[in-house]
Amino acid sequence: MRTVSDAPSLRAAVRSWRNEGQRIGFVPTMGNLHAGHYALIELARKHADRVVASVFVNPTQFGPGEDFARYPRTLAQDSVGLAEHQCDLLFAPDVETMYPFGPEHAIRIHVPEITDTLEGAHRPGHFDGVATVVAKLFTLVAPDLAVFGRKDWQQLLVVRRLVRELVLPVEILDAPTVREPDGLAMSSRNQYLDTAQRSAAPQMHATLEWMREAFAEGHKREAIERVAWQRLERAGFVPDYVVIRRARDLALPGEDDREKLLALAAARLGATRLIDNLPFD
Ligand code: PAJ
Repeated sequence: MRTVSDAPSLRAAVRSWRNEGQRIGFVPTMGNLHAGHYALIELARKHADRVVASVFVNPTQFGPGEDFARYPRTLAQDSVGLAEHQCDLLFAPDVETMYPFGPEHAIRIHVPEITDTLEGAHRPGHFDGVATVVAKLFTLVAPDLAVFGRKDWQQLLVVRRLVRELVLPVEILDAPTVREPDGLAMSSRNQYLDTAQRSAAPQMHATLEWMREAFAEGHKREAIERVAWQRLERAGFVPDYVVIRRARDLALPGEDDREKLLALAAARLGATRLIDNLPFD
């Protein structure tokens, strides 16, 4: 596997593959890779001849007071893992490459509506940063397809809207959430948790499962959300939201909604903010 950090080398590598008629798959990440990320690489590999991954801790998607400075940066280890998972090319740019005018002067892409709620409401500007960096990465890599995790459900919807509206010639594939044996969704942020927090953390997934069951048993959405909030609090979380929404657009489900639904939660355990979701059957 080759690693490149500048745009001309990236373009040259991808161009030579494309000239041979190969299909390029792309997996954008912020690094500190775990089995959830590697599952995306494997899915990309199934649908493409060449797989490009990026590792870039994107400053514009972190709010003031969030964990940009202390976000784990483990490029050497990530590069070994990517090579083991048959990734062909790692793009690891620095901030100047991605933001030549500086992050605070960058052009920003705002995806409307879908970003008003949940993560967007609790992390103002976050999805502008995500949409901006994803659009830049797609321009740089020019992949045929890109893979995103369902773990960040709202992000997936934002990326799909971005691609559709900017008519980007990239097919978006989504991959299921990879979990620890106790149900905790894998995340680079899990390592911030101390021992007591780590043993409480699977309660987020357990609560989402409980919500799915309660809904299947016919309980009312509002009542389920209220009890779920209390459950999370009892486990030591400070919830931002724990809700049941329509999977397609995160709208509130109507009475007898036939649309696919899911439960989503975000909550802090100490200083660590965790998010997760669970689609209903
Ligand atoms: P990051 O958090 O590194 O995640 C990169 C990709 O891995 C995302 O598509 C995310 O949904 C997926 N992912 C993370 N944990 C997962 C898990 N447990 N199971 C399955 N997939 C998982 O998301 C970002 O980075 C950034 O916002 C990015 C899209 C790279 C833009 O900066």
